[in-house]
Amino acid sequence: MRVNVTVNGQAREADGVWEGESLLYLLRERLGLPGAKNACEQGECGSCTVYLDDVPVCACLVAAGQAEGRTVRTVEGLAGDGALHPVQQSFVDAGAVQCGFCTPGLVVAAHDLLARVPDPADEEIREALAGNLCRCTGYEKILEAVRTAAKR
Ligand code: FES
Ligand code: FES
Repeated sequence: MRVNVTVNGQAREADGVWEGESLLYLLRERLGLPGAKNACEQGECGSCTVYLDDVPVCACLVAAGQAEGRTVRTVEGLAGDGALHPVQQSFVDAGAVQCGFCTPGLVVAAHDLLARVPDPADEEIREALAGNLCRCTGYEKILEAVRTAAKR
């Protein structure tokens, strides 16, 4: 089947999409957007988090066909012209990126949190990021990154 979707502000089209194919596969393998990561493919880790019509979703759990006619924003779409988004820059500055596999999903989840709650308490940050697993950082640097992004 053919899927038409607006990704990061651009109309995109993919042919030959299999009915059981995930939005994550569509983004990474067909549309050349490897930012969202494939870590578990079971909705457990949050590494594949993207916005679908402004709502964060696990792209591995969404069928590609469900994105037909809709809007997707990936971690690649957060950065401005030649500059990282403040949330992205804060992850870098706080040293919250180690292997980086969890980072795109965490950045999207933090971006969503700060759009809703500009000055979140630590508990709110923890709750918002509870679906995003990181095996490397111990989470403290990630909390620091989100606090820094909120200030910015
Ligand atoms: S790859 Fe989608 S939640 Fe882990
Ligand atoms: S930095 Fe490696 S999983 Fe989070």
